[in-house]
Amino acid sequence: MKTNPNWYYEEKTPGVDYLNPKIAQKYDAEHQKFRNFKEESEHIVQVMEITPEDTVMDFGCGTGGVALNLAKYCDKVICVDISREMLDVLENKAKKLNINNIETYSAGFLTYNHNWQDKVNKIVSMVALHHLPDFWKSVALLKMAEILKPGEKLYLFDIIFTFNIQDHQKSIEKMIKDMQDVAGDSMAHETEIHIKDEFSTYDWIMEGLLEKTGFLIDSKKIKSSNFVEYICSKL
Ligand SMILES: C[S@@+](CC[C@H](N)C(=O)[O-])C[C@H]1O[C@@H](n2cnc3c(N)ncnc32)[C@H](O)[C@@H]1O
Repeated sequence: MKTNPNWYYEEKTPGVDYLNPKIAQKYDAEHQKFRNFKEESEHIVQVMEITPEDTVMDFGCGTGGVALNLAKYCDKVICVDISREMLDVLENKAKKLNINNIETYSAGFLTYNHNWQDKVNKIVSMVALHHLPDFWKSVALLKMAEILKPGEKLYLFDIIFTFNIQDHQKSIEKMIKDMQDVAGDSMAHETEIHIKDEFSTYDWIMEGLLEKTGFLIDSKKIKSSNFVEYICSKL
């Protein structure tokens, strides 16, 4: 089996500890304070033109709030996440909902091994890529470009900074306050951890990474508090 060189990044989950079963168990309840997984998924189906024949991959799928909804609209969802604990929650929900057209892989963006003959039609990654430092984001995006069929699409949604560098302090404080207002203390605290220990980056860096790894950015939307949506085509 091929092993990675000594300099290769060892994927971990910096910041919020998604390997902690307690965090995994309460994830849906916490995120549903400010998100609606069903609406997010229906939006993705529409903007990504997902069809019943499509194989969709969700990278950093977590507890499957989006992945399990997408499964209703396509042939198969490949669910990849580094946290076995988050996937356990996803698998239990799938069992209860009788959703069988999913495959789960406990692997990271970098360690996931794809069978290259079975390229996928769509890749979705929601609030997960910021767990990698910027250089390793580029390695992960390169892998996504290889997994996607030519002309097909990547949906990337993440916390990405759109403020001017000079304004970082006031923008980050606003971001934490906005989260406090909609989702309360625990999510405001997670936002602080996010800024301190995770690897969110600027939009102009993310756009360079996307373009240099073989994607054309078809659209960019800035949602509230630096949540950014990119829809990209593989060139
Ligand atoms: C904020 S959650 C997002 C989950 C889901 N995509 C959603 O929209 O609710 C971040 C997820 O990224 C996963 N993650 C963190 N680092 C990762 C890595 N290197 N490779 C794959 N998944 C990773 C975590 O385990 C966690 O499930």
